Amino acid sequence: MNKTIGETEDFIHSFLPLIKEVASVDILIAPPFTSLGIASRLLRATGIKLAGQNVFYEEKGAFTGEVSVGMLLSAGCSCVIIGHSERRQYFSETDEIVNKKIKTARKNGLEVILCIGESLEEREENKTFDILNKQLSGSLKDIPLDMITIAYEPIWAIGTGKTATPEQANEVHAFIRNWLREYGEGSDKVRILYGGSVTPENIDSLIAETEIDGALVGGASLKSDSFAKIVTGAM
Ligand code: PGA
Repeated sequence: MNKTIGETEDFIHSFLPLIKEVASVDILIAPPFTSLGIASRLLRATGIKLAGQNVFYEEKGAFTGEVSVGMLLSAGCSCVIIGHSERRQYFSETDEIVNKKIKTARKNGLEVILCIGESLEEREENKTFDILNKQLSGSLKDIPLDMITIAYEPIWAIGTGKTATPEQANEVHAFIRNWLREYGEGSDKVRILYGGSVTPENIDSLIAETEIDGALVGGASLKSDSFAKIVTGAM
């Protein structure tokens, strides 16, 4: 819940010149719904993709306050984030709901970033892999792997300033990669992003890990210069 329409406009105007030399990193911006219109206009012809932060699983109907896949597509999105830990925590999203959302998005040609991750308590009880296995199985049930990106976001690292060490993240990414291989075809094409207190200072060491394909950035993406440094750091 960051950035009004005017703030989004200012952000994009100052961000674009900072990354104009960047050709080898795929950049995607996921502003709030109300800023999709302005972002779509300003990002046209830049190669930067646009994503929604959430979507509803029904395609249309009387669901006051919800946003459909068709609405996101018409607003210029090619992608949507599904199952962010804040959606799971504050809005009671279960793996079953996440699964329905992914199905509707894929069916209509919207790519998906599926977020998964364990809490601190679960990590301390050595349940990380069990939790991820449950989230992956429930969220991806009956879904082919094309159009899917996974974001591993340990809940204890989101917005806390505590990043998983590159080794910790890499270990979990390797687990996810193996899980995907066992699950089905096309697993090697699925990107696995790390999210949780990514900054310009730690992006180099995270991206240097073999299993980390990119980053899902929250707080450090809110300022154009810091986000631009992360993008160039990922090159
Ligand atoms: P953070 O957020 O980068 O501020 O930890 C990540 C996220 O919200 O997905």
